Amino acid sequence: MPERPYTILSCSISLDGYLGGATEERLVLSNEADLCRVDRVRAECDAILVGAGTVRDDNPRLLVRDPGLREQRRARGLPASPAKVTITREARLDAASNFFTTGDSEKLVYCASQAVPAARRRLGAVATVVDGGQPVDLARLGQDLHDRGVRRLMVEGGGRVHTQFLTADLADELHLVIAPFFVGNSRAHRFVGVGSFPWHPGRRAHLAETRQIGDVVLLRYALSSRFAATTERTTC
Ligand SMILES: NC(=O)c1ccc[n+]([C@@H]2O[C@H](COP(=O)([O-])OP(=O)(O)OC[C@H]3O[C@@H](n4cnc5c(N)ncnc54)[C@H](OP(=O)(O)O)[C@@H]3O)[C@@H](O)[C@H]2O)c1
Repeated sequence: MPERPYTILSCSISLDGYLGGATEERLVLSNEADLCRVDRVRAECDAILVGAGTVRDDNPRLLVRDPGLREQRRARGLPASPAKVTITREARLDAASNFFTTGDSEKLVYCASQAVPAARRRLGAVATVVDGGQPVDLARLGQDLHDRGVRRLMVEGGGRVHTQFLTADLADELHLVIAPFFVGNSRAHRFVGVGSFPWHPGRRAHLAETRQIGDVVLLRYALSSRFAATTERTTC
């Protein structure tokens, strides 16, 4: 059995299960207290992974925001923020995007084999491009991250990435935050797409924790026998 990092899937969704709105404008589903919680989870991880769609749509920085948490990481001999990881088939990624230009941690691009030469030309100066298979095989990615010393991985979306980690049974925890409103537009991205999930009416996931955080609620599911029942603080 290949080794892989302990993997936490994290996202916020609307009451009707959407990850965002139907326009290009970024929809805020979380609130400040929950962003603070997410910051603490990030600070405890060795790497954060998002799909190339999220890099293009949201232009996220994926950094630990709180100066105290950054300092604690440095004191442990770690970079201020975890390594950043993305996956892509076509390598249509902008080297000037925040993913690549912010923070001093390592940036890794797991690219489908066919696009590796193009990815190295486009992104070789700002990231390490890794051949991930055709398409990128998430079990192989997990083994490669483990070989690079990543023991705790946070996956922050989007929907296509969450779908693959869940259907491949490669997640240990799910942190699902529910925002108190509806999106109501089927053109928006859903939390997950169609797939054969290991959790179904005959095998229910274990709900390990519920936590109200202001006007949102965190549902924390244990998805594997590796689930570690830790409770991080919600205040910064
Ligand atoms: N609410 C939240 O917590 C949250 C969090 C994150 C994102 N989001 C939202 O989610 C939306 C994006 O979701 P999404 O599903 O469209 O995109 P995504 O999951 O972020 O990325 C999908 C892209 O990742 C690459 N990819 C995925 N699986 C791959 C594989 N096995 N091999 C190679 N490449 C692979 C492909 O990139 P290429 O197209 O480059 O080949 C694919 O188009 C955004 O609008 C964002 O706002 C919401």
